[in-house]
Amino acid sequence: MVAASPSGSTPEGYVAGTTTDFSLIKHGESYPQRDFFNSEADYPLYYGGVGIGKTRALVVDFFDYAGRCPGSRQIITEPTWGMVRDVLVPTIEDCYGPQEGVGFSMTRQPPIDVRFPNGSEIWLRSTDVRPERVLGSNVARVGMDEITLGHQEQSFDYLAGRLRQEGFFHQVKCTGTPKGRNWVWKRFIDAPMPGVHVYFAETADNPKLPPNYMQRMLATYGGWDNPLARQELAGQWLQMTGQVFPQFSRAIHVRETDVAWKTLKNRLGGIDFGGVSPTALIACGLDSGDRARAYAEWYKRQATLDETMSAMAHFQVEWGVEKWIADPSGKKEIDLLRKAGFKVSPAKHGNRIMLRVQILGARLNVHPAAKLPGMYISPYCHNLIMEIETLTWKPDVDVDQFERGAPDHAVDALTNVLTEYDGVRAARKGLTEPVLVYGDY
Ligand SMILES: Nc1ncnc2c1ncn2[C@@H]1O[C@H](COP(=O)(O)OP(=O)(O)O)[C@@H](O)[C@H]1O
Ligand SMILES: [Mg+2]
Repeated sequence: MVAASPSGSTPEGYVAGTTTDFSLIKHGESYPQRDFFNSEADYPLYYGGVGIGKTRALVVDFFDYAGRCPGSRQIITEPTWGMVRDVLVPTIEDCYGPQEGVGFSMTRQPPIDVRFPNGSEIWLRSTDVRPERVLGSNVARVGMDEITLGHQEQSFDYLAGRLRQEGFFHQVKCTGTPKGRNWVWKRFIDAPMPGVHVYFAETADNPKLPPNYMQRMLATYGGWDNPLARQELAGQWLQMTGQVFPQFSRAIHVRETDVAWKTLKNRLGGIDFGGVSPTALIACGLDSGDRARAYAEWYKRQATLDETMSAMAHFQVEWGVEKWIADPSGKKEIDLLRKAGFKVSPAKHGNRIMLRVQILGARLNVHPAAKLPGMYISPYCHNLIMEIETLTWKPDVDVDQFERGAPDHAVDALTNVLTEYDGVRAARKGLTEPVLVYGDY
């Protein structure tokens, strides 16, 4: 597909006049909005922060196709009727307002249909009705704006199956802002379906936004430390519903160790053994106020026991780790490590998920009186921070199961050490609910 050119030979019924310049929105060295516009993949997805020109890209794309392909039927959807009225129609007016009545006509009451003199049509619909009610007959192309909102998987499947208008090029183009690891993440990002092609931009990549827009949005979302800001403005697929550690905040818990590790007491290393999944080591100690300080991390996929041992030796020599607390289910590994001369004990949480969550959760809680958390994490522990931030409960099952695929290796390694500091006390408290208690720090 070629970019709409506002000048030159315009076929009859062709709508021009948009000031849209698709080589405007740039991410790194690429032009994701333009590439999405030009994409001929079966399922292109343009995603990222708010205001990256998603709706505009769809509108210009679909008008362009309508002009070039006489007699084509297309559909653009929004998740709700309100968004058709408040987002889609105004975007069309923005781009093509002056052409209405000449280059196309548009009804103003539902069903809203756009008709072109060359016989092409674009239907504007919402997906909050039963999928089969969205469509009357087969169409050439479908554009779904904001597919991550609401429950649109069924509509997507239904519409993708109705691309049957004969003699036309077929495609479903989607846009969205990440909303956790939902079906869109699974089918477009994690394990992409055949034909998927993704294009990504951040809010800050659009130079056409009003001045100060970014700063204002960032302030609204509480700064980059707030996961919501990273989702809405930087387009990250964070999981935020059912977060296991909602009290975690980079602003509160992540700090450069302001005390040297040498001054920490009770320096222990936590181990979580991975087979195919990563093996994690975390070094942790207690400062003079008895706050835990996670100060070093090692994280490796498919690590052999030899590699793990050399990392452990390094932690002992360079970072003064005195003793290791390992995943209790790794009996064989613990044996081998002991034979190699390492001081290793199994963690005493018996792998009970609630106990582990309580132990780390209590340390993360900010004590209401002292206004300080029970632990800090060094910014160098990247994986640990990422895991704490993204670990979620599996929805729709008993609460004590983590979401499948959410990594928790560094979290487990750290929790092994914390159990050594706090385990008995937490077990004695007989806690049953996750992270509702404050630690005594
Ligand atoms: N290629 C472009 N050329 C000119 N203006 C653009 C372009 N892309 C987006 N814009 C403008 O940027 C703003 C955000 O675009 P919009 O399509 O509403 O973003 P989104 O749907 O991603 O939130 C709008 O004011 C829009 O007109
Ligand atoms: Mg939009």
